[in-house]
Amino acid sequence: MCGIVGYVGLKDAKDILIHGLKKLEYRGYDSAGIAILNSKGVHVFKEKGRIAVLEKAVDENIAGTLGIGHTRWATHGEPNQENAHPHQSASGRFTLVHNGVIENDYKLKADYLADLNFRSETDTEVVVQLIEKFVNEGEKVEAAFRKALGLLHGSYAIAMIDNQNPEAIYVGKNKSPLLVGVGDGFNVVASDAMAMIHVTDQFVELMDEEVIIVTRQGYTIETLAGQKVERAPYKAELDAGDIEKGTYPHYMLKEIDEQPAVIRKLLMAYQNEQGEIEIDADIRAAIDQSDRLYIIACGTSYHAGLVGKQMLESIAGVPTEVHIASEFSYNMPLLSKNPLFVFISQSGETADSRAVLVHVKKLGFRTLTLTNVPGSTLSREADHTLLLHAGPEIAVASTKAYTAQIAVLSILAVDIAEHNGMDIGFDFTKELSIVANAMEALVDQKDVLEQMARDYLTGTRNAFYIGRAVDYYVCLEAALKLKEISYVQAEGFAGGELKHGTIALIEKGTPVIALATQYHVNGSIRSNVKEVVSRGANACIISLEGLNEEGDSLVLPEVHDALTPLVSVVPMQLLAYYAALQRDCDVDKPRNLAKSVTVE
Ligand code: F6R
Repeated sequence: MCGIVGYVGLKDAKDILIHGLKKLEYRGYDSAGIAILNSKGVHVFKEKGRIAVLEKAVDENIAGTLGIGHTRWATHGEPNQENAHPHQSASGRFTLVHNGVIENDYKLKADYLADLNFRSETDTEVVVQLIEKFVNEGEKVEAAFRKALGLLHGSYAIAMIDNQNPEAIYVGKNKSPLLVGVGDGFNVVASDAMAMIHVTDQFVELMDEEVIIVTRQGYTIETLAGQKVERAPYKAELDAGDIEKGTYPHYMLKEIDEQPAVIRKLLMAYQNEQGEIEIDADIRAAIDQSDRLYIIACGTSYHAGLVGKQMLESIAGVPTEVHIASEFSYNMPLLSKNPLFVFISQSGETADSRAVLVHVKKLGFRTLTLTNVPGSTLSREADHTLLLHAGPEIAVASTKAYTAQIAVLSILAVDIAEHNGMDIGFDFTKELSIVANAMEALVDQKDVLEQMARDYLTGTRNAFYIGRAVDYYVCLEAALKLKEISYVQAEGFAGGELKHGTIALIEKGTPVIALATQYHVNGSIRSNVKEVVSRGANACIISLEGLNEEGDSLVLPEVHDALTPLVSVVPMQLLAYYAALQRDCDVDKPRNLAKSVTVE
């Protein structure tokens, strides 16, 4: 949440910063700002709203070769111009942007800055004021920067400029991600390589409690304690084309369409030369040595975890539990003797999941992360990583990462089963290829789904998705997709559970979308549909080809029973997409949300 950028070089910084912020807008988009330093001093522009609003407000005539920028997802203080970053010290000498949450801001204000009038309600302003205070007391800027950062509790990625030093950006981080991009005659700062991949593909990772001074010519890294650190850049494997929308109206639609290709890519990535599924032997060994897997995740990734549990237990016989990360640490279940913790996180940065990772590592347990972002915090800090190979996911609503997570979990289950000599009873690689083809057939039916969205979701205040067995888990994800981008109050229910209370909400015209992909519960989910129809619901059934009956609204191509969630979620994603579009919602950037949730 929140994205930060910086540039120091020979070119005008404005356009580079604004371009970078647009690429980081997925991290938060309620306000934005930049600061440009030139011979006349520092010039700050900040606005409530999207980067496009900021872009219009920036004075074209102000040029400078050093600057910082920020796009915000509000935590402390409402989204308005005063609370937008950058924030400045009382004299205006120091200007700073911050991503994260300072947990002890009140105490710092009381202990060090009691006489100061703060201009904003943010937790950030205390940092820049503290630095100025320490400089006023005689500290050198770098020492004051380190001293102030050393007092902070919580998470931060910070970039600061000093209007008396046109050469340097002062950068520091703890828990929140931050990279320095290395160029020829310039250097940049970014929360994510995506923001600066148009100017360099060489990046230096910053570790927790390190500060880095970035100049046009280079960078120096030190720990907060002042110890020098040497670290060479790595090449970011990111194709600038992957992060463009191309001819698509929205990233979400592009990412839905990319799903068949992601499945094929995963098949290649996790097959050995003999064409057999193979994952890293160390990961297999870690699973073999454990007596229970604990999947930890949030939101869509949690929903993928529920499907994954089903696969791991039914295909590989591995006992698995799934937990919501934000609940786990505070309400820990009784653990087995040898647990292995499996973190599922598209971004690899989710603070709730990371808090559990830190906690269980302290307890001495082994950890594995499934993530789309190599080098992300959860990947670096876990013992093992399995990559999702989905390519950058930019739309806030996750689609291709969800299917990639399920596909990787199925690959994991199959690998374990086969290495333990179990007969899984089907040709997995063939079936996964069939899944990719089925997804392709479904994304080609956009006109059908656009019409279904009109028929079932127009003008409604609420909607229900019902399914049984693994379809229930897909319904949870379907409801989340609809909620987050169209703001329709939607719930996913186990078909049999409706009659225990929720059916009271069904009235004339209430949309109920049922999934029927499971042979063993086909009869019972159809009975549940009859129950809601007889109470006035506007119901439809999406069924697997082999289960299709007259009157069903959409037929899903036949795929193996164990893999249906990969296919059945695709129409749900498209339904949510068209429902949001028909309501004029901002599909890629829904209100109140951010892609990477780096606060607990
Ligand atoms: C919903 C969505 C979120 C994320 C959740 C976890 O479409 O994207 O629910 O799944 O915030 O994020 P990651 O997977 O990055 O840990």
